[in-house]
Amino acid sequence: LVHPVVIAGGSGTRLWPVSRDSMPKQFVSLLDSGRSTFEETILRVTGEGFARPVVVTHSDFRFVVAEQLAGLGVEADIVLEPERRDSAAAIAVGALMAARRDEEAVCLVLAADHLIPDAALFTADCQRAAEGAARHGRIMMLGIEPTGPSTAYGYIAPGAPLDEAGAFAVERFAEKPDRETAETYVAEGYRWNSGNFVFPARLMAEELAAFAPAVLDAARGALDAAVADLDFLRLDAAAFGAAPRISIDYAVMEKTRRAGVLKTRFRWSDIGSWDAMFDVKDKDASGNVLEGAVSVLDTRSSFVRSDEVLTTVVGLEDVVVVTTPDAVLVTSRERAGEVKTLVAQLHREA
Ligand code: GDD
Ligand code: MG
Repeated sequence: LVHPVVIAGGSGTRLWPVSRDSMPKQFVSLLDSGRSTFEETILRVTGEGFARPVVVTHSDFRFVVAEQLAGLGVEADIVLEPERRDSAAAIAVGALMAARRDEEAVCLVLAADHLIPDAALFTADCQRAAEGAARHGRIMMLGIEPTGPSTAYGYIAPGAPLDEAGAFAVERFAEKPDRETAETYVAEGYRWNSGNFVFPARLMAEELAAFAPAVLDAARGALDAAVADLDFLRLDAAAFGAAPRISIDYAVMEKTRRAGVLKTRFRWSDIGSWDAMFDVKDKDASGNVLEGAVSVLDTRSSFVRSDEVLTTVVGLEDVVVVTTPDAVLVTSRERAGEVKTLVAQLHREA
């Protein structure tokens, strides 16, 4: 059995105004299915071969998590963080939880904010990665074929094959390189890190002990002193607050010599921006993605979305227009990533 650990505590400001501090993108219905990416993530790992999921999230999101799980009829262990300490601490908690269930547990860490249209391929790859992780004693990543020199991802240099099943050792891992470096990585056949990790729980604890002992200690202390509250497990605030704020990519993946990679084929987007979301969605004959109460004329290669308010566009190309009941975003697709800066400005003005 693979133990899924869903980390769902991130913020996702570049999908404003749909993604808000109080309701970040992973919980919003952004997909054609009408579900949130968190719900889709849970559904991908509730079938055969998976243990009861562990969800690690910020305390602020406890009710939306509980509600969406209930809506799916899925039971999970919901662990609440008193504050955001980034992914290393969240993953440490998940790995320790799994190890307490079963010393030999193999964990599958899942980001909660990814769009993966080919769910069956993804799930099959996760199971393959789990076999590889157990067999080779590796922290396995799912390596995506890059479509360009993005600086938003971790880059994996595949090394020697570990077996005939498509698992490779990792020669180097580099998180979020600059543009120039990213270009050379793409040319050299590196893969993107999809942000999902598969590993024996004990191995992750060992690697954290070696490279980020303060993270491991904080996670362990926070779990030891955790308190059950309704259906939630509340981590101890004092202990957890001592965790350094660092992602798993910098804390462990750049340093470990026990990483592995599976070269995967499923379509994937971390929907980091409206433009990234546009890329993976099906387009109409004019190359548009139109969602909700919208109508357009002579408009091409654009993403127009509205929850309620009728939203119309005439004669534009390569734009993003997103309407919610209390806020509207208009940007070129090219500059959609700058919404993050805009949101920071809104915070300052508030
Ligand atoms: N519980 C919890 N607590 N979850 C968190 C926290 C936290 O403090 N911080 C981040 N997460 C969750 C997010 O919700 C998301 O599901 C996942 O961890 C990754 O965090 P991001 O902040 O979105 O990371 P990133 O996109 O910059 O980079 C990571 O993902 C890329 C692929 O999307 C890295 O793993 C990259 O190497 C990778 O390419
Ligand atoms: Mg991300």
